[in-house]
Amino acid sequence: MCGIVGYIGNKNACKILLEGLSRLEYRGYDSAGIALREKEKFNIIKAKGKLENLIKKIGNIDEIKSNCGIGHTRWATHGKPSENNAHPHNSQDGNIVVVHNGIIENYLEIKTNLIKKGYKFYSQTDTEVIAKLLDYYLKESNNDILEAINKFMLRVTGSYALAIMIKSRKSEIYVAKKDSPLIIGVNKDETFIASDVPAILKHTRNVYYLENNEMAKIIAGKVIFYNSYKTQIQKELCHISMSLSSAEKNGYEHFMLKEIHEQPLSVKSTINSYLKENKIQFACLNESKIKGYDNILILGCGSAYHVGVCLKYVFEKLCQIPVQVDYASEFRYRESILSKNTLVIVISQSGETADSLAGIKLAKLKNVDTLGIINVVGSSIAREVDYVLYTYAGPEISVATTKAYSAQLVLGYMLAIKFATVRKKINEEQYQTLIKQIKELPYQIEQILKDEKNIQHLSSQFINTKDIFLIGRNIDYAIVLEGSLKMKEVSYIHTEAYPAGELKHGTISLIEKDTLVIGSLTQENVIDKTFSNMLETKSRGAKLLAITSNEIDCNICDYTIKIPKTNDLFATSLAIIPLQIMSYYLSVLKGNDVDKPRNLAKSVTVE
Ligand code: F6R
Repeated sequence: MCGIVGYIGNKNACKILLEGLSRLEYRGYDSAGIALREKEKFNIIKAKGKLENLIKKIGNIDEIKSNCGIGHTRWATHGKPSENNAHPHNSQDGNIVVVHNGIIENYLEIKTNLIKKGYKFYSQTDTEVIAKLLDYYLKESNNDILEAINKFMLRVTGSYALAIMIKSRKSEIYVAKKDSPLIIGVNKDETFIASDVPAILKHTRNVYYLENNEMAKIIAGKVIFYNSYKTQIQKELCHISMSLSSAEKNGYEHFMLKEIHEQPLSVKSTINSYLKENKIQFACLNESKIKGYDNILILGCGSAYHVGVCLKYVFEKLCQIPVQVDYASEFRYRESILSKNTLVIVISQSGETADSLAGIKLAKLKNVDTLGIINVVGSSIAREVDYVLYTYAGPEISVATTKAYSAQLVLGYMLAIKFATVRKKINEEQYQTLIKQIKELPYQIEQILKDEKNIQHLSSQFINTKDIFLIGRNIDYAIVLEGSLKMKEVSYIHTEAYPAGELKHGTISLIEKDTLVIGSLTQENVIDKTFSNMLETKSRGAKLLAITSNEIDCNICDYTIKIPKTNDLFATSLAIIPLQIMSYYLSVLKGNDVDKPRNLAKSVTVE
């Protein structure tokens, strides 16, 4: 989604802003722009498409004399991707420039009122409405900027992270936030603004996280924070330990391939963070709490939801506790019935997904405990939940998740094992066996990664495939849900994930000669059933690919990928790896933009 950067200090602001924007490219965007303060004026430069177009338009960066500016990568919501709709946006007289991440839900109504007052609009965006509304309030409050921002915050509904420059305030940038991320980094004589840490990591590791309904005045090397009553507040300075190299490709052609290969490490780091002396320990969760829950609801979106689907089976089998899984976007608009002993678990890599954030806020209104499985430290969801368990995947840059998904899975397994032992559903011996199996997973993933070349070769045979059906039962179904999403999003091949037994209730009519059917066959008790369903498609002309750790009749399948054997409950962590690799190579072979697939954004901060 949109990315914001800002800088005020003593260096070339243009260079710093462009560098910051390039570090935010992973979030997904379709146009970019910057506004630089140059003596008495703002120099606003925007371009549709990639950052390169903006860089070309700027020309000789070294010649630009500016130490203060804001920049933006836009992922279109209101109005098509175009130079006109790109940020920054400005007030009519050019006194105010603004960049914005989020959505102003009541922008049309505000726009209509402003038009009645004589304001003219040049774009279709909600952000231009922000610039003009701020202009209106600034005039109304005799140039009191904090008052104007405060009035704006009270007037709008929706989400925003804003960076604002005002012509007369030469050495200041203003920021405000609600439900969209914004961090502020400080160095000796410089201050940086960004949507995410990688944008400023090269310059500073000391950051402040702006909270909802807070605003700040940014000056070089200093930040003054205010709450929504315009009262000055103190905030804690946080130190970021993430390494810069973790946000770089390190010789891999794409971030996705690098992150696929980082999975043994991301899984191992997550395990090691919670396994002390062979015991699973979650400092934030006490045993009486764990004993008290009588059901669990898991919320997430996309791949995080798929982790939830897998964990439903794991929790139900190990802990005998009822588990529901819901898309956060659906949960927030249904009349859910949550008993007071429900634990709501939200899974999110970014910790900023708008639907997941709204889902967890809604759950909190129902007075139930909330727990987050989150990758980004200090993110909005991490700060919203009652208990947070971080995954240790490191920064994930490729839009399609791989290593964060794997870390979420393993942390979910560990949580289920903890619940099972505390609730006395497993004995010490079973507990130790499960831990041993968990500890083997990183090595087993490594083993599958060694097979990359064969999987790459196999993928090349499917380059012209139009439709792929992926089928499985129980946890195998959770596996194919994620495999199917990976293929769709990066290779753009149409795929469908189906519970194997459901195919014959309609979808089998789509199977024709040479349709590829991939069966996940890891769950001992249902392998034969799924295999039969695969054969039903073969009789109708399908080509079969089996992913399995078990003995099956390989002569029947056209292709087989063997994976190591683990506990059936943990099979997702292994069976997904070949599907990720296939998706990656299909994307590369088709010449797609692997790390930034079309129309997608990394952190989905709109509904
Ligand atoms: C798919 C993918 C998305 C995310 C989803 C949730 O590869 O990355 O489906 O899983 O947008 O994002 P987070 O985990 O940040 O809440």
